[in-house]
Amino acid sequence: MTGKLLLATILCLMGGQALGDAILEGNYNVTAVCTAVRVGTQLGSIESCQTYYVCQSTGPVQSSCQSGFSYDYKRGSCYPSSEVDCFWGVENPCAGKNNTWVPNTAVCGGYFYCLEGKSAGSGNCPMNQKFDTTTKACVYGSCSNTQSTDGVVLGSLCDVVPPGQYFGDTESCSIWHYCESTSTGLVLQSGKCSTNEQTAYSVLANQCTYESASVCSRVTKVPLIGGAVSCSSNGAKTGDSKVCGTYYVCTNGQNVATYCPSGYYYDVDSENCVTRQSATPVEGCNRCQYATTMFVNAVDSDNCSTYYYCNSQGQATLNTCPADTFFDESRQGCKSDNDLSTYVPLNGACKGASVDGGDNESTTEGTV
Ligand SMILES: *[C@@H]1O[C@H](CO)[C@@H](O)[C@H](O)[C@H]1NC(C)=O
Ligand SMILES: *[C@@H]1O[C@H](CO)[C@@H](O)[C@H](O)[C@H]1NC(C)=O
Ligand SMILES: *[C@@H]1O[C@H](CO)[C@@H](O)[C@H](O)[C@H]1NC(C)=O
Ligand SMILES: *[C@@H]1O[C@H](CO)[C@@H](O)[C@H](O)[C@H]1NC(C)=O
Repeated sequence: MTGKLLLATILCLMGGQALGDAILEGNYNVTAVCTAVRVGTQLGSIESCQTYYVCQSTGPVQSSCQSGFSYDYKRGSCYPSSEVDCFWGVENPCAGKNNTWVPNTAVCGGYFYCLEGKSAGSGNCPMNQKFDTTTKACVYGSCSNTQSTDGVVLGSLCDVVPPGQYFGDTESCSIWHYCESTSTGLVLQSGKCSTNEQTAYSVLANQCTYESASVCSRVTKVPLIGGAVSCSSNGAKTGDSKVCGTYYVCTNGQNVATYCPSGYYYDVDSENCVTRQSATPVEGCNRCQYATTMFVNAVDSDNCSTYYYCNSQGQATLNTCPADTFFDESRQGCKSDNDLSTYVPLNGACKGASVDGGDNESTTEGTV
């Protein structure tokens, strides 16, 4: 119970698209991993099973399988989705499965138990273990502890880098890795170049060589996964943009993920954990977390008319009430604006909302 849980939801991608920006998928820096593998290597995506990246000398280029196909990073190609064990961004990971376990890709070490195509329960592997998709069991190994603010969590490089191929690191020029196929799944093997003076691992030559600026240009000191988010104001708190019950405390220059107790959300006004119903969490975070009903208010300080449908995996789909109504979570439906003023003080998600709209700023809709 003391294990740190990473609770996150898989929602939209927000990656920087501008030329020159690094491609980030949560804690997975695709651009950095591309500098550590041979040119031409294909990497998996953790935001969609259809997406993959081709590492070119200029950086990763995004590519996509045709509809109905998923990318299998272990075989390096697209295959019919039913033949690929991929769960990234999949709305119902239990679809077509009975009496078996599948990973919960939003949580480090998390899994679902599937019965007749539906999730019949979820759980977490014990400390220092992670869920292995191939053996459908918890195996020893750690997953990255760093909280991702983008909603997806890469636990191991061996979940995206093809097995059986050496690659370098961005923290030290001498470190090499490869993903070994074993009976308990893929295991990351790592080592250091240390023979004679040949202390650098050359990705291009795929061997240990002498250090030089070009051989070591990938070394940025930023880790391949789990680069911690830096911060400047010690003690400052920030709510997670996707997970309402998670916030970060700036500690010695790094944001450390902190979790509210079950049933509590991080409240932006008091900067503390507050019971789910009274808390005003970060706008856009997923209020399906800890919800006991199928429909929940979205954080809406304007007119309280937006709400989510929560599926059995706790994933949220945004909806809006018709004109002159607001969403009433206790009554599970849209109600006349006449009752809005009594609803707002008891429901933190709608704090500041009024019939004419709570704030006079023009807001753009459509993004969650
Ligand atoms: C991602 O990797 C690139 C290339 O190594 C680096 O320039 C960038 O700072 C990294 N971004 C983050 C957020 O770690
Ligand atoms: C699903 O698995 C359960 C448990 O093994 C079994 O009782 C049930 O008949 C199975 N359902 C189908 C549709 O195969
Ligand atoms: C709520 O406010 C938004 C933005 O001002 C507006 O577009 C929408 O029509 C309003 N909805 C209702 C139900 O009043
Ligand atoms: C919104 O209202 C506040 C005061 O209620 C006012 O100071 C501010 O200028 C207004 N902003 C806009 C964009 O109208």
